[in-house]
Amino acid sequence: MTAAESDIFSVYTYKIRDSYEKGQGMKETTTKERAQVQKASEFQIPRVTPDMRMRRLRSKAPLRSMVRETHLRPEQFIYPFFLVEGQGIKTPISSMPGIHQQSIDEMLREAEEVVKLGLGSVLLFGIPKDKDSQATGAWHEEGIVQKATRELKKNFPDLLVVADTCLCEYMDHGHCGIVHNGNILNDPSLEIIARTAVSQAAAGADIIAPSDMMDGRIAAIRQALDANGFENIPIMAYSAKYASGLYGPFREAAESTPQFGDRSSYQMDPANGREALREIELDIAEGADIVMVKPALPYLDIISQARQMTKLPIAAYNVSGEYSMVKAAAANGWIDEKRVVLELLTGITRAGADIIITYHAKDVASWLKN
Ligand code: PBG
Ligand code: ZN
Repeated sequence: MTAAESDIFSVYTYKIRDSYEKGQGMKETTTKERAQVQKASEFQIPRVTPDMRMRRLRSKAPLRSMVRETHLRPEQFIYPFFLVEGQGIKTPISSMPGIHQQSIDEMLREAEEVVKLGLGSVLLFGIPKDKDSQATGAWHEEGIVQKATRELKKNFPDLLVVADTCLCEYMDHGHCGIVHNGNILNDPSLEIIARTAVSQAAAGADIIAPSDMMDGRIAAIRQALDANGFENIPIMAYSAKYASGLYGPFREAAESTPQFGDRSSYQMDPANGREALREIELDIAEGADIVMVKPALPYLDIISQARQMTKLPIAAYNVSGEYSMVKAAAANGWIDEKRVVLELLTGITRAGADIIITYHAKDVASWLKN
């Protein structure tokens, strides 16, 4: 006990004892207070001196900084964009405060901000004008992501463009693959997914990030990229992508809600951990350069086990629902946004993620600057 602490303790003890001894105590003190008096005055409490004092290294800010194990860096974050056709469009997404659907001209303005903040990369999602059953907008040369990629690379050559490679936003039924008789077909989907990846690389994408969860997609994409002269373009595989309730706000943003059923015949069951490691192993065997766990916060155990298992870089997707929960609580004044966001992202990093896709990226980069 420090001097200050023992002072407080004895003042409190005397106050109670005083009133107790004056005979007022019987009426006025509670049972709990009397028990405390008894504890302080009658019991024999041995004094303990700890052998090891962990608090030594916590005693001042410079010491805490010196021994800090995990650090956040702006370059580790990927910031997502939701792109629509047109000009001068910037539509707020109501469930994701601060995030917009925007046209390419508006995106270029925000990209400048992203670069100034020291962030190194953006992730592109496209919302096409027309959806169909072959996801034409996903792989077309004039698709929204292809156009946005060309503009970004022209204006900001050093900003990494990560292309989300999936079909759901471009399909009229909203599923991540070809649908036949209500089934989501695996092998026929691979061809369109690979075609999409090649068109994104041809537009200048620096990283291909398939999020569809079809079997064999990493091999299919790797072969297609290599066959078209893109052998140097890395694949960031959404390897362990769970069928999560936390994608709700994203589906508003990307207009990609499945029109029937759900995604549990291809995305993973939240209850399964070993299966996630199999998915990761398979993607590595098929040629993934970076593996991803998604969402991040309920799956820190998977990130941590993946960290033990592979030497590849690991990405985690701090998804829309994780973002919205924090924003909603902060808007209500229930939590301190900056403090909580930094804590959550530090936790994801400590668990083993090298890279984090997050809608908080701009805020974090600006906090890290100051
Ligand atoms: C679709 C896709 C999803 C996300 C990224 N790509 C969700 C889904 O499966 O509907 C989720 C991202 C987020 O919630 O922030 N392939
Ligand atoms: Zn999809």
